[in-house]
Amino acid sequence: MTPADCAEASIRHSEGFSRPWTDGEIEALLVQEPVFGFVARRPGKWQASGGFVLARLVEGEAEILTLAVRPKNRRSGIGWRLMGAVLRHLRSEGAECLFLEVDEGNEAALSLYRRIGFTKVAERAAYYDEGGGARTAALVMRLDLG
Ligand SMILES: CC(C)(COP(=O)(O)OP(=O)(O)OC[C@H]1O[C@@H](n2cnc3c(N)ncnc32)[C@H](O)[C@@H]1OP(=O)(O)O)[C@@H](O)C(=O)NCCC(=O)NCCS
Repeated sequence: MTPADCAEASIRHSEGFSRPWTDGEIEALLVQEPVFGFVARRPGKWQASGGFVLARLVEGEAEILTLAVRPKNRRSGIGWRLMGAVLRHLRSEGAECLFLEVDEGNEAALSLYRRIGFTKVAERAAYYDEGGGARTAALVMRLDLG
């Protein structure tokens, strides 16, 4: 992922989250040295990117910052492949573990992460505002890369 991908990534992000990140916010993360990302593309087949992932690696500990797949392209293995690209990169860098936070009600993401091998290590109660006064917990999940 390069700064040229950030405008499209902000559209992908807005399709997946109620508080979208602007292209400027995404670029401000991407230009930080420990941050990296991947974009899903099919040249000649898709006009738009199928999704993107952003992650950060600091001293052996990595974190998924965000992951979003275009709604019409979901459930076709793109999230799995984007996470696979992150895992390959982290292993090549000698990273020890990968963390992420996910809404307890996000069945699609939870199912993807559990299938990859992430396990819950902590819970932040009432972390996400679902609107109308409802709040859901954030699950902190970890994958050992060793
Ligand atoms: C979560 C998300 C990234 C998954 O991307 P995706 O490309 O649709 O996922 P994949 O097609 O690679 O799915 C891989 C596996 O994850 C699980 N999975 C994915 N979506 C699922 C769903 N809607 N319901 C149940 N399991 C699901 C399945 O095990 C699936 O394998 P299968 O299709 O062989 O059964 C996508 O739904 C998305 O962008 N959601 C909105 C943003 C978001 O929630 N991001 C994560 C925040 S932590």
